[in-house]
Amino acid sequence: MKNSVLVTGGAGFIGSHTAVELINAGFDVIIVDNFSNSDMAAVEGVRTITGADVPFEKADCNSREELEKIFKKYKFDSVIHFAASKAVGESVEKPLMYYRNNVGSFVNILELMNKHGVSNMVFSSSATVYGQPDVLPATEQTPRKPATSPYGNTKQICEDILRDSVAACEGMKGIALRYFNPIGAHPSALIGELPKGVPNNLVPFITQTAAGIRKELSVFGDDYNTPDGSCLRDYIDVVDLAKAHVVAVRRMIENKGKAKYEIFNIGTGVPVSVLELVNTFQKVNNVKVPYKIVGRRQGDVEAVWADTKLANTELGWKAERSLDETLAAAWSWEKRVRNIK
Ligand code: NAD
Ligand code: WQD
Repeated sequence: MKNSVLVTGGAGFIGSHTAVELINAGFDVIIVDNFSNSDMAAVEGVRTITGADVPFEKADCNSREELEKIFKKYKFDSVIHFAASKAVGESVEKPLMYYRNNVGSFVNILELMNKHGVSNMVFSSSATVYGQPDVLPATEQTPRKPATSPYGNTKQICEDILRDSVAACEGMKGIALRYFNPIGAHPSALIGELPKGVPNNLVPFITQTAAGIRKELSVFGDDYNTPDGSCLRDYIDVVDLAKAHVVAVRRMIENKGKAKYEIFNIGTGVPVSVLELVNTFQKVNNVKVPYKIVGRRQGDVEAVWADTKLANTELGWKAERSLDETLAAAWSWEKRVRNIK
């Protein structure tokens, strides 16, 4: 029998790529999304890439009633919970919206999983929980730092909620994947990252600048204590990241976990600076990205990258795609969306 996975936020950037990889790996997938940060095109993209008539339910994970209908309509043994709001700045302005949408929806899902006997949860956590680590690279044992935004705090709170609810419920298992900086797009260019409004994240800002939608990129600071003065991050290809979810779900289904609740870093283990990333993008795609150096962005950490040993050895997962491939895919996607030849 095929295993089924409920993918909340499955029309989003990471959720849509994960739906594709799950289907490629032989899983049945049900996508749930309220389209607060996405639209039907992503679901159509998943269907076109996989050739599967993937069921889609428009529902808000904050609504227990809407969600429960889905728990009654479909049979699944695992949930991957991507649905959340993710803009750090907005979370400072609207903390309650973030606590409701990110924490409230997670509690809803976990309660319904308990009620309907659904055992396995993969939760989208973030390297933001490490803040600026004292020692690099960050391992899963690196202490979490107090969150500097309500968004970051929701990730810490949800990790703890998952740990506690898994401990209290027999048969239940949970994996928190701490993503570093997800970038790129599917090689088909049928799905990718499409932020609404002015992008907060680096790569969408670069692709939109290359496409002429933004005049120039602002590089936030060149006076950090790093080789070229710009910040260091661990940029993980979204298809590689999607595959980490497939192995995480399998691990729980096959009972391979060492504990009921586990945490894994999902990154490449390789630090890349902002300037290196911009230059690589220009070189690989043979396109200009005008940029200027400006002051530091408030809240940015200087450097963070992953120790990926645990994911490599325990999950048997490793990032495979090169930065060149990833940045080429990001540009192909932007060109397709903007109709650039
Ligand atoms: P995204 O905004 O593209 O995807 C999230 C999806 O969830 C969207 O399609 C949105 O419409 C949907 N959604 C939001 N609230 C919902 C609700 N209440 N009910 C139903 N659907 C809802 O974001 P993403 O980059 O794909 O991120 C997915 C997850 O990964 C999020 O939990 C995010 O916090 C986490 N994460 C993202 C990054 C990143 O840099 N992209 C890094 C670390 C962690
Ligand atoms: C990367 C680097 C910027 C934009 C954020 C969240 C984090 C996680 C991932 C969800 C930084 C620089 C950026 C620009 C720039 N999300 N930059 N000009 O800040 O590492 O992480 O997304 O969990 O929680 O905080 O990612 O892509 O915004 O920035 O110079 O226009 O690019 O200063 O060094 P960040 P980012």
